[in-house]
Amino acid sequence: MAPSPHPIPVLLDVDTGVDDALAILFAVAHPGIHVLGISCVAGNAALPQVVQNTLGVLDAAGAAPIPVAGGAHRPLINPARDASHVHGPDGLGGIELEPTTRATYEVDGHPVAAIEMMRQLLLASDEPVTIVALAPQTNLALLLRAYPEVAPKIARVLFMGGSASVGNATAVAEFNVWHDPEAAAIVLDSGVSTFMYGLDVFNRVAVPLEKAVELQASTRRAERLAGHLISHRMGVGAGKEPVYTGLIGDAGALCALVDPDALRTELVPVFVELAGATRGQTVVDRRRFPGEDSMHGLHEQAGYTEVALEVDAERYIDLYLSTIATLA
Ligand code: BDR
Ligand code: CA
Repeated sequence: MAPSPHPIPVLLDVDTGVDDALAILFAVAHPGIHVLGISCVAGNAALPQVVQNTLGVLDAAGAAPIPVAGGAHRPLINPARDASHVHGPDGLGGIELEPTTRATYEVDGHPVAAIEMMRQLLLASDEPVTIVALAPQTNLALLLRAYPEVAPKIARVLFMGGSASVGNATAVAEFNVWHDPEAAAIVLDSGVSTFMYGLDVFNRVAVPLEKAVELQASTRRAERLAGHLISHRMGVGAGKEPVYTGLIGDAGALCALVDPDALRTELVPVFVELAGATRGQTVVDRRRFPGEDSMHGLHEQAGYTEVALEVDAERYIDLYLSTIATLA
């Protein structure tokens, strides 16, 4: 792995979550990434569980102290919805981490909410910061609404979410966007540069089962954890039976951050559908010609987003595994 000369300053937003845990291991291990802080949000699990999982994964990674703060307990409008069928009731598929001694971010002895921590870290940074959002975008929307002055300090928002093809939560909507569609719409419309690592690529990057089993037997704690997490990445087969997927999931978005050349992307208008049966769908306008909607002045105004459409999956698996192999 070629070391990056200057690590990219990053704020992570997570709902840890089996694959957020895989992403955190990668983020703290990769020399090209400098994690300034981690904000937590309800999504794959309830917020207090997400915070505990995040702190525990940082321990398992042997990470240096990193500020972690809890944020939104629920989406802007939707109720919080249970994802325990995918991530287990504890968000980590029943994998027990050692009790953590880490605490959440405090100032003057008082815990600081996620958007306040994000504001402080963004304004304190000498250079624009990339926000990598691996969860419903509730915290980001609240941040941009409460503190619009931070926008110039955001290099871009690289988010796992959305799809230019099929969904997973519904036929057309991906879980993170579906969980809080208004939040994703606020972020996409904010004027901040955005990059979508959606299901079109997310569903392609998978570790073979024999490799996951090998990781479980590693002498290194972080690799053992990764092996168990990857083994928990199950899908549903045609007969509704559980099937191994081996997806690294959210961790792929961090691979995209440090190795964008493994992706084919298009810069296209994207908006979030907010109503009806397609609520939560990211409508990705890949037309190369003006349609009847724009000819008749009916065109939905949508901001441009760089959308990842194809990935060299083996390259990301190699990158992922070689990076976490550097952890103890
Ligand atoms: C998203 O949902 C969760 O299962 C993953 O953590 C990812 O963020 C994929 O739809
Ligand atoms: Ca996630």
